[in-house]
Formats: sequence, C-alpha cells, structure tokens
Amino acid sequence: MKAKARAHTNIALIKYWGKRDEELILPMNSSLSITLDRFFTETTVSFDQQLDRDYFWLNNQEADQLETGKITAFLNKVRTLAKLNCFAKVESINHVPTAAGFASSASGYAALAAASVKAAGLSLSLRELSQVARQGSGSACRSIYGGFVEWQKGENPDGTDSYAVPILDQDSWDLRVLSIEVTKETKQVLSRVGMKQTVETSPFYQGWLAAAESELRTAKQAIANCDFSLLGQTLEANALKMHATTLGTDPPFRYWKSETMQVMEEIEALRAQGLESYFTIDAGPNVKVVCQPETEQELSKALAQLKVVQNIYSCRIGPGVSYIAI
Ligand code: ADP
Ligand code: DP6
Repeated sequence: MKAKARAHTNIALIKYWGKRDEELILPMNSSLSITLDRFFTETTVSFDQQLDRDYFWLNNQEADQLETGKITAFLNKVRTLAKLNCFAKVESINHVPTAAGFASSASGYAALAAASVKAAGLSLSLRELSQVARQGSGSACRSIYGGFVEWQKGENPDGTDSYAVPILDQDSWDLRVLSIEVTKETKQVLSRVGMKQTVETSPFYQGWLAAAESELRTAKQAIANCDFSLLGQTLEANALKMHATTLGTDPPFRYWKSETMQVMEEIEALRAQGLESYFTIDAGPNVKVVCQPETEQELSKALAQLKVVQNIYSCRIGPGVSYIAI
C-alpha cells in the first residue's frame, strides 16, 4: 500500500489556457510541451487503515488545510477507481520552486498520480495514468511522458479522450531551456484562477482559441522537421497571445513584472545580433528561454549580466515518470 514516484516538470510551447470542465479538468484547447530534466518532484504515498484523515507533507513541512484538501480531492478520485476506502499519508519533495511559474503543479500531480495509483494497487497504462494526473492539474498529464508531448483536448464530456501523447522522444532533438528567475515570490494569481477569469471575462479569449489550434499545427510541423526557427517563432507568439488575454479580463491582471520585460527585450536584442533564442512565460514573472546547445553558454553569459536576473537554471529535455524502490 506504499509507492514512490518521480516526475519532471514540463514547459508548454503551446499553452493550455482555459477549461471547458472545471471538475474533470478538460481544456478548451490542445497544448504541447517539453519535459525538463532539471526540475522534478518525488512523492511517496502510503494508504493506511490506521489513519483518521489524509496527511500531506510538502518539502518536509505539514501542509495547511487548504493544500491538504486539494490532495484529498485528488486521492478521492484514485480511491473511487481502486474501490479503496482508507486514508493516505503523502510526502512530497519539490526539486523545483513551488508556485513560482516553474510548473511545480505539473511535476507534483504527475508524481502524486503515479505513486497513488500504484500504492492503491491499480495497474494502469501510461495513457490512463495521464488521464488520472490531468484531474489533479491539467499540465500534469503531459509530465507522464518525456520529450515532446501533446495534450489532446478531446471532445467527450467524460474526458475519456483527453490525455497526453508523446510526439518525439527526449533524445531525438537536443533543445535547451534556460529558466530565468527574476523573483522568488510565489505568484499572486494561480494559473487555475487566472485561466477561469480569462475564459469568463476576456473578450480576447475567442481570438486565443482560434490562434492556439493553428499554432499547435505549426509547432508540430516544426518539431517533425526539427525546424528551430519555426518552432521558436511559433512558441513565442503563442506565449504573447496567452498573456494578452489576461489584459482583457475583468478585473484585468498580468503575470509580467518590469524584470520580465527586461529579459524579453534582451532576448530580442541578442537575436538581432545573431544569437537565436525564443522566450516563453507561464503564469508568473519568470522567463524560459528556448535555445540550441551551441548558443546556450553564450546566451546564459549574456543574460547573467542583467541586474534583474537572480538565477539561471540550465535545463535539457527530460524523461517521463518513473518509480523509485522503497
Ligand atoms: P506552478 O507554476 O509552480 O505550477 P501553480 O499555481 O500552477 O504554480 O501550482 C502551484 C500549486 O500546485 C501549489 O499551490 C500546490 O497546490 C500544487 N503543488 C505544488 N507542488 C506540489 C506537490 N509536490 N504535490 C502536490 N501538489 C503540489
Ligand atoms: C500557463 O496545469 O497549473 O502553465 O489545470 O488548473 O491545475 P490547472 O492549471 P495548470 O495550468 C498551466 C498553465 C500554463 C500553461 C501550460 O502549462 O500549458
């Protein structure tokens, strides 16, 4: 009744932004990501008849009621699947900053899904595991696989056709991601809250949906041909469109800080000088820069000169979920 799993974070090149079903976590649009080697979560789940409730320990500290409640809501889905009626102790370590735009929810729920289904005695395919992880946090369904991954939004109201699919394995194209930390603060507007507000109130949301589908097709074509310029232009344009939707919400919000803009401008300036790279930003102020191995060091050196840059984490493409012997 005990299992431990490791899952890596992923960074979306074509963003998931907006749900059509809040309970099952079904997205409005398909998305595409790369899994990162550098950031990951390890989670141990023990189901135990002696426990009077679920317990959640994150980074060696017992989580508050709100966070534990989220874990219970997720474990309830696993308990229903496994026809199990006992509580669990969940111990998780994030080797990634939590709630700071580095996708801890993706690695967190992918690791929790993998550990909890195994501890509950279920034997699922990776596709089924991806569907379970999706119900914890949408982006987590992509972290089940390594390499380049598409989350197909599906059409069915019950979510049976909404899951991640690997499209290119981790060793087939050596891209690098520089995760640029400009602040350690946790974010003000969680992705979940931000995307809901966007779907409900932003007049730009329909434009986002129309563009995201065609950008996804272009990105897949670029990946099939290992066409870095096309992939880069597409992912940067997609990130800008996602963030544009937040400016139109009621009340409006934005994830960028002035530091974020300075990094974006530096990438554009370096690109104009022939150092090709592209930026993307998730639900937080930190910036991820996608580049090729031959320019990674020079880019990193140039970005480190900026006063606003606190840390640069150099990432390669990483693996899917795995189990750890305990
Ligand atoms: P991030 O950019 O880090 O993904 P989000 O706001 O999307 O930020 O998600 C952060 C939330 O994900 C946390 O508040 C917590 O509820 C959840 N989370 C983070 N790490 C874990 C973990 N290891 N196990 C379970 N849930 C986690
Ligand atoms: C901007 O997967 O964290 O990073 O499904 O509500 O848990 P929930 O949201 P989450 O949102 C990720 C949003 C994003 C884009 C992406 O990763 O595709």
